[in-house]
Amino acid sequence: MYFGADYYPEHWPRERWELDAKLMKQANFTVVRLAEFSWIKLEPEKGKYDFSWLDEAVNVLANEGIKVVLGTPTAAPPKWIMDENPGIYMKDAYGRVKGFGSRRHYCYNSPEYHDHTKRIVAEMAGHYQNNANVVSWQIDNELGNMGTMHCYCDNCLDAFKKWLKRKYGTIDDLNKEWGTVFWGQTYRNWDELILPAYTAGSTGESEGYSHNPSMWLDFCRFSSYSIAAYQRLQIDEIRKFSDKPITHNFDSPYSPVDFYELGKDLDFISFDNYVNLQWGKGTYQFHSMAHDLIRGIKDKNFWVMEQQSGPCGWTAMGDTPQPGQLRLWTYQAVAHGAEAIVYFRWRACTFGTEQYWYGILDHDGIPRRRYREIQQTGKEMKELSDLIIDSRVLSNVAMVKSYDNLWSHNFHKHNNEFNYLQLLINYYSALTTNNISCDVVPPDRDFNKYKIVFMPAFNLMTDALKLKVEEYVQQGGTLVITYRSGTRHWNNFMTTETLPGYFRNVSGVEVEEFDSLNGGRTVSIEGIMGCGAASVWCDVLSLKGAEALAYYKDNYYRNMPAITVNKYGNGKVYYIGCDLDLECLTRLMSTICEASGVKPVMSKPVPGVEIVKKEKSGKQYTIVLNYNDTQASVDLEGVYSNLLTGETIKGSLLLPAFGTAVLG
Ligand code: GAL
Repeated sequence: MYFGADYYPEHWPRERWELDAKLMKQANFTVVRLAEFSWIKLEPEKGKYDFSWLDEAVNVLANEGIKVVLGTPTAAPPKWIMDENPGIYMKDAYGRVKGFGSRRHYCYNSPEYHDHTKRIVAEMAGHYQNNANVVSWQIDNELGNMGTMHCYCDNCLDAFKKWLKRKYGTIDDLNKEWGTVFWGQTYRNWDELILPAYTAGSTGESEGYSHNPSMWLDFCRFSSYSIAAYQRLQIDEIRKFSDKPITHNFDSPYSPVDFYELGKDLDFISFDNYVNLQWGKGTYQFHSMAHDLIRGIKDKNFWVMEQQSGPCGWTAMGDTPQPGQLRLWTYQAVAHGAEAIVYFRWRACTFGTEQYWYGILDHDGIPRRRYREIQQTGKEMKELSDLIIDSRVLSNVAMVKSYDNLWSHNFHKHNNEFNYLQLLINYYSALTTNNISCDVVPPDRDFNKYKIVFMPAFNLMTDALKLKVEEYVQQGGTLVITYRSGTRHWNNFMTTETLPGYFRNVSGVEVEEFDSLNGGRTVSIEGIMGCGAASVWCDVLSLKGAEALAYYKDNYYRNMPAITVNKYGNGKVYYIGCDLDLECLTRLMSTICEASGVKPVMSKPVPGVEIVKKEKSGKQYTIVLNYNDTQASVDLEGVYSNLLTGETIKGSLLLPAFGTAVLG
């Protein structure tokens, strides 16, 4: 198992490198990532390359038995490139140039940047093609990060037109599918097409605010496609020289870039995992779901290419990780499918934007508590390595996350409080609080291996997906859908079918009317899961074959069905017509899982403790993670052995604050 850190030797005096490498070895490191922002060091002048410093760094690390991942340096093009070709800069929705001074200052569709990219990537791949110390390539850095998913330059306009032509064939079909007859937006030919930039109706609050929603959705698809195409250009270049595996370090799960599309051309997925930042911290479920999404991209284990290792922020710092947390977050990653951990960063930098982004070492380079904890974790990872590599998370429940739906929801929120990602996180949290693991999958994944498939607010639909879902339920699957599921066609316009539209047949309900709950308004609800509060949205349902499981208790729709279940073929469909408070949702998930034959990993959940069951070569094992800052006791309902200590555990497992255990 690879274990290591992101290292920037170019930030430190040459005399320090040997000591760094020695300390890394003592911390059980086997890999470091290098060079992803170092273009200016590698090509200080056009066509004059200098790999000498990087060669030296690779050698110093190799002398301590440490391999390297090389990042292509394209996230930070040098100033001389930009001065020579200012057309490479991105433009924002107001037509303003997004200039030099930070990073990611380039457009994915710039032909000039494509040429520069090919040149540096080919040079780098050629230079290191026979270097046995290079184990993998990383393309660029967090593509789409820092608000760089969309660009509004002329290159993008041209590329968008071509993309649309390929998609629709004729301008008439485009007009029909976008409904451009509305507000007289009809385009007579391809030349007339625009980008959803600043327009007469823009309020300035949100890009594309008053634009045609179908156009906006296509622009999101196109932007994601452009990023993937730019990544592919680099992959093709590397492949001319090297057959080492290629990855990209994916941004956080908040990223609007379609991770599934970006993942297709990569050999393996890696991502950047920050738990506790200047900008806040998520629940443990938020981060577990992030890992599950990353695993779900290829249904394969992955690397964490940047794992938090200290207090983090740009202008201020988030909470300092407490003793045990760095180890705990590493085990969390491993539990959810990571099979390599690379900490960001080796040592806090003394200059530049990220002076406050602490690494394993502080600015003074002296190993302290965080170093020792990572060293210990590295030792344990080595011992557990066989169990971790190629292991599988055992789960028979899946949550479908769709980027097309995300983009549509972000544009048309239905209700100001509605948030698609938050809704998915709520369902995921309700499941894991019941000790039920949940895969996160794209809509085109095979559903048949799952007992339950969740498609919360899956509003954009296709006929093919409708058929797939119906067949899945017909054959015995359980489908859970919610308000706003099935309301729109794939190109982002409303269906004329009675809601829930595409799911009407399978769900056995009709949405008689709905109440969009604003200003924090809630509605009481009561049913098989007890009492609770509905918020955000209430679909008032009429039964067309389904059975009611819960009713609204307030308002003019008092005693009307809110949650239903419908038998369809050998399976069933739950329709949840409202947003529920988390406790109520957690109880409902427990009931639905029980009725669908999905058993929790352990039957007595403990708040703040996560339990993940895994399998390797037919052998099952369990990882228990205590996120609480107090001791936790978990009723194991059996006899286990602690795979690290060999100790036998009967009855209860006692875990210290932020403690973790691997049980066989
Ligand atoms: C990541 C990025 C790194 C570094 C880190 C800390 O998003 O990939 O290069 O910037 O955040 O800000």
